[in-house]
Amino acid sequence: MEKEEILIIDFGGQYNQLIARRVREKNVYCEVVPYTISIEKIKEKNPKGIIFTGGPSSIYQEDAPKCTEEVFNLNIPILGICYGMQFMAYSLGGKVKRADKREYGEMDVNLDNTSMLFNNLRNTNICLMSHTDYVDELPEGFKKIADTDTCKIAAMENSEKNYYAVQFHPEVNHTENGDKIIENFVINICKCKGLWKMDTFAKNTIESLSKKLKDKKALCALSGGVDSSVAAVLLSKAIGKNLTCIFVDHGLLRKNEVEEVEEIFTKQFDVNFVKVDARDRFLNKLKDVTSPETKRKIIGEEFIRVFEEEAKKIGTVDYLVQGTIYPDVIESGLGKSSVIKSHHNVGGLPDYVDFKEIVEPLRDLFKDEVRKVGKEIGLPDYLVNRQPFPGPGLAIRIIGDITEEKLNILKEADYIFREEIAKNNMEKELSQYFAVLTDTRSVGVMGDERTYDYLIALRAVVTDDFMTAKFAKIPYEILEKISKRIVNEVEHVNRIVYDITSKPPATIEWE
Ligand code: XMP
Repeated sequence: MEKEEILIIDFGGQYNQLIARRVREKNVYCEVVPYTISIEKIKEKNPKGIIFTGGPSSIYQEDAPKCTEEVFNLNIPILGICYGMQFMAYSLGGKVKRADKREYGEMDVNLDNTSMLFNNLRNTNICLMSHTDYVDELPEGFKKIADTDTCKIAAMENSEKNYYAVQFHPEVNHTENGDKIIENFVINICKCKGLWKMDTFAKNTIESLSKKLKDKKALCALSGGVDSSVAAVLLSKAIGKNLTCIFVDHGLLRKNEVEEVEEIFTKQFDVNFVKVDARDRFLNKLKDVTSPETKRKIIGEEFIRVFEEEAKKIGTVDYLVQGTIYPDVIESGLGKSSVIKSHHNVGGLPDYVDFKEIVEPLRDLFKDEVRKVGKEIGLPDYLVNRQPFPGPGLAIRIIGDITEEKLNILKEADYIFREEIAKNNMEKELSQYFAVLTDTRSVGVMGDERTYDYLIALRAVVTDDFMTAKFAKIPYEILEKISKRIVNEVEHVNRIVYDITSKPPATIEWE
């Protein structure tokens, strides 16, 4: 099959993953690579086009990130975004300057829509600007194709060489028609055909896995989440009973989830499915533990111990299957962003399992692509479209110590919340929504009786990337119904609050 790839050279900007997602949405394969990549590596990948991302640096800084200037000899289209534009201008002989103050926000940008980059756009467009440096003088052979009141060169092109650059961010939703700009570059300028489709991905992956793993044994830790489930099904379709899935029931999943996973993997797919009931074991380890970070640590470690013990019973396997997806790869590759919460994902790499190699069939995919593959290979909608769920599960949604009673209260309350959201067709509008069992108790009255019971908080957010999030504006009538149902149907709960903080300053989870 003809190969087409766009290479995204990463200068450290916060929206870089979004650029990659936008390109993939055009059915074009792309990779995000660090700016230190060598020209040989780039040539090996033979991309149809290159995108320089934004980044926090200033081009005249001594340690400013710069990629090999030999990219300009490759004779392929290049799109520079923000810092990427400044890097392009600087490298090709233009001038970059520093403004007195940062320009930030959604601005009206005047576009020259005779440029191929702005094909089919109106001549003013709202774009997200976020920069202090700007291109003050164009490099030779370039012309200006956009400006704003405060930025005299907001985009430039050298159409002969197929070099384009924008000071604003077409990859974010705040920029109107940003996806059209990306499409103009990827499809019209780079001439990509859009060959990257999830139906062929599933088929090709199963074929190549069944060749590579023929007669070999593989082991997979199923968490019940989307990624590990899709990875497991791909493997099961490739090697059938030579795959063993270990599913650790730590008692911290939501109501009905254990049964759902069991049903899918025992009835629908042909694998060896091992469920381990480790509920008491986890509860014992977590007894009296109140610190969120300690909870995470205990659960992460205990999960690995249980998994190892089960794996030992199976003996040596050839492959360990991991549900790693592309954002994990990019994040660990560049080692950025400070740690606010340690994300101990259930399914971390066990030390003592005897295997020869790791298989990560979803390593190149974004979450939305994993969901498409999941659908393609027959996983049910409710699993494929599951909202993100933290590895430590309900343990970090119970503030303070964890008991079986509290777990049951939370499971029931959370189930009612989910049920009402589904009834009102709001699932797709909300990125994540759940109940939290606080450690506050308050006085209430039920019938003629005074009660002193728990306070449940409801949390629902809307977000693109989970790094920032807005609280969701669920209509009062729906909240009222949920509140009434929880208080009436769940014992020991007499008060409900709705969390109206965004992230930042709050995080999405309460712990
Ligand atoms: P926060 O609470 O940091 O959450 O705003 C951002 C996203 O990460 C999820 N999250 C976790 N996921 N292990 C995980 O696998 C964890 O320890 C963890 N803590 C938070 C959270 O559900 C949200 O989607």
